[in-house]
Amino acid sequence: MTNSPTTRSTAKRISIINHKGGVGKTTLTFNIATQLAFMGKRVLLVDADPQCSLTAYVIDGEVLDDLLDHSDDKDGATLWSAVKPIIEATGNLREIEPIDLSEGRLAPSFQRSPYVYVGGTFRRGAK
Ligand SMILES: Nc1ncnc2c1ncn2[C@@H]1O[C@H](COP(=O)(O)OP(=O)(O)O)[C@@H](O)[C@H]1O
Ligand SMILES: [Mg+2]
Repeated sequence: MTNSPTTRSTAKRISIINHKGGVGKTTLTFNIATQLAFMGKRVLLVDADPQCSLTAYVIDGEVLDDLLDHSDDKDGATLWSAVKPIIEATGNLREIEPIDLSEGRLAPSFQRSPYVYVGGTFRRGAK
């Protein structure tokens, strides 16, 4: 959320929408994101689902638990941390930093995928 409004407005957005649960929205989102990243695109995944299953695809459970545990804190880093001041009428939208997947916090399921994050982009690995 650190980009200027001008930069943000040029980003292409893809939404996968279906009112029914369990039809593959999250799985499709993850796979489209992976393929785009593999093609060298910079991808931002926004997980607004309280179940956090998209987030669980890409970061370790331990890290996810920690993020959720500190969501209410002043330095919380979730979408809730960002909108909380507005919902509680205590302030403005807080800026939160996206989690950089190059920081070695990929979930085991992602590590088993045929792609590896190398030099700021995803490449097909030798797994
Ligand atoms: N193309 C697919 N083929 C088989 N199983 C799938 C496919 N897409 C998703 N699934 C499985 O279906 C279940 C629900 O998928 P999910 O992406 O969580 O759905 P949603 O986000 O719409 O609730 C998961 O267990 C997932 O692994
Ligand atoms: Mg889902």
